Amino acid sequence: MILAVTKETKDRERRVALTPEVVQTLIKAGYEVRVQSGAGLNAYYEDSAYEKAGAQVQADRQQVLQSADVLLNVNPPSPDDIAKLKKGAVVISFLYAAINPAVVEACVRQGVSAFSIDAIPRISRAQKMDALSSQANLAGYKAVLLGATALGKIFPLLMTAAGTLKPSKVVIMGAGVAGLQAIATAKRLGAIVEVSDIRPETKEQVESLGGKFIEVKGDDSIKIEGGYVKGVSEEFLKKQQALVAKHMAEADLVITTALIPGKKAPVLVTEETVRAMRMGSVIVDMAVEQGGNCTLSELNQTVVKHGVTIIGESNLPSLLPLNASDLYARNVLAFLQHLTTKDGFKWEMDEEITKGSLIVHEGVAVHPSVKSGVTA
Ligand code: NAI
Repeated sequence: MILAVTKETKDRERRVALTPEVVQTLIKAGYEVRVQSGAGLNAYYEDSAYEKAGAQVQADRQQVLQSADVLLNVNPPSPDDIAKLKKGAVVISFLYAAINPAVVEACVRQGVSAFSIDAIPRISRAQKMDALSSQANLAGYKAVLLGATALGKIFPLLMTAAGTLKPSKVVIMGAGVAGLQAIATAKRLGAIVEVSDIRPETKEQVESLGGKFIEVKGDDSIKIEGGYVKGVSEEFLKKQQALVAKHMAEADLVITTALIPGKKAPVLVTEETVRAMRMGSVIVDMAVEQGGNCTLSELNQTVVKHGVTIIGESNLPSLLPLNASDLYARNVLAFLQHLTTKDGFKWEMDEEITKGSLIVHEGVAVHPSVKSGVTA
């Protein structure tokens, strides 16, 4: 079976789907690997490292695509790339299928299959394949470092001959994967950390990392299913905004990670809250791609509003391309080992991970999130 990796084309993307380390494991297991020349360069992996690992490096992108039994990418391949695949080939990448109908349609048209990494069910058996978590973990770390760099002060308490500097205060909204890593990172750098989430179980997790929990009393409008927040009312959000606003007014750095899967991100930081924040303080809005937790953040821009620097970087993992590619490639390896043998796919259609992540099967849209409305 020929596994193919092409250079990512999305703006600001530096990751690569397979690393030389993982290529070596796959070659040992009997797979063949083709890599487009330069695919790993932005993640600091040279063609020669892939060759040494046993991959065939090819300059011509089209040739790589045409030879693929499986195309492995980080971002969804373009419809043009999909049109070059042979019938029966398989795409594995982040697809975000529900919001990328053009990609799904291209797969249907071409008669290929597609698995979406972001749709792998978050069950314990699939943890080693969970690239949403591996990437969000790194993103939480980088968010703190970006915020710290933009801040005109240091994090820890510092006693000097000229007097004492007070530690910085960091407020983190949302204690999921990214938020928990942000807490740990900010604590390690010496900041005082306050955190809010609306899933009750997060209080203990926050406190075990040394964060102080900001309690916002929940109400009936908070819907939680399978460990995810599925919805909250506008009234609750108003109450929450008012309560956290005074913590933000005293913060040096605010990191927002609040997410409701499949919906626009909840607004937690209003313009009024930003106005009340101290001059020189910083907000890193990690939910900027889902519309933002702060009403003033701008996609992929750093803006200064009312004296507050607001960072809206949408691809934080790509700023750590080495680690992010390493973990992503290991997630992909585990996924491939689950779905295939060196001779082909197992197509266990009733198995939970396969069922959850298979979007298109041999030209037919099969996933509930895309089934209706996709035509060839
Ligand atoms: P997650 O699902 O693990 O965590 C989201 C958290 O937000 C959950 O703990 C949830 O309970 C909480 N939440 C929901 N509504 C809330 C509210 N009203 N108030 C407080 N907390 C609330 O998600 P993960 O993986 O940690 O990602 C977090 C965010 O960061 C997402 O928006 C994700 O898309 C984004 N992200 C951004 C990256 C970037 O480069 N900018 C990279 C990775 C993730």
